[in-house]
Amino acid sequence: MKLVIAATGASGTVYLQRLLDQIDATTNDIHLVLSGHAKQVAAQETDSLNVPPGVMRHPENDLNVPYVSGSARFDAMVIVPCSMSTLGRLASGSGENAILRAADVFLKERRKLIVVPRETPWSLVHARNVVTLLEAGAVVLPAVPSFYNRPRSVDDVVDTVVWRIIDQLGLPNPRAYRWKTDSAAEFGTQS
Ligand SMILES: Cc1cc2nc3c(=O)[nH]c(=O)nc-3n(C[C@H](O)[C@H](O)[C@H](O)COP(=O)(O)O)c2cc1C
Repeated sequence: MKLVIAATGASGTVYLQRLLDQIDATTNDIHLVLSGHAKQVAAQETDSLNVPPGVMRHPENDLNVPYVSGSARFDAMVIVPCSMSTLGRLASGSGENAILRAADVFLKERRKLIVVPRETPWSLVHARNVVTLLEAGAVVLPAVPSFYNRPRSVDDVVDTVVWRIIDQLGLPNPRAYRWKTDSAAEFGTQS
């Protein structure tokens, strides 16, 4: 799968980290781009982002990359975490940086775009921007964890969101807890 993973300046660098940890960069073509604010938030929330070998990193303002053009064939893009600023600019059609331009391209080409907003509470502006993206075909997958698998660690909690992203991508997801099909509910999940 050819995949763009973008991170913007919402809290939740750990969602990005756990996603990178669980997608195979040797069998998937993964392009990673962080906004300037994503880097600032990451510095606040983690000692370092561990980017697996094989993942290609790109600057936020470099438009000389394949995924900002509809002519380059990519399968999916994930923005995780997605700030309400990026979500709003995307809803307005802005393509002012490579993340926004790529997401705009994925929408116009009807390719899978998954946005993972992290903000609470929402204003009406946030809600309306979310509706606009849903109407345009995006998958809006808020960073809202679940607890019915009895998570034991922060990573376990985070994974309840990350597994939904991996499912949406259609990638192998062997660790995912699945309601009424796994026995992990009593014992928590493996990290
Ligand atoms: C420590 C920190 C945490 C933040 N958390 C959030 C958040 O959870 N959600 C959000 O929408 N914005 C959050 N922001 C604000 C965004 O970083 C800010 O709106 C920024 O302009 C987003 O830029 P970007 O979308 O280009 O990355 C946070 C900022 C900081 C410094």
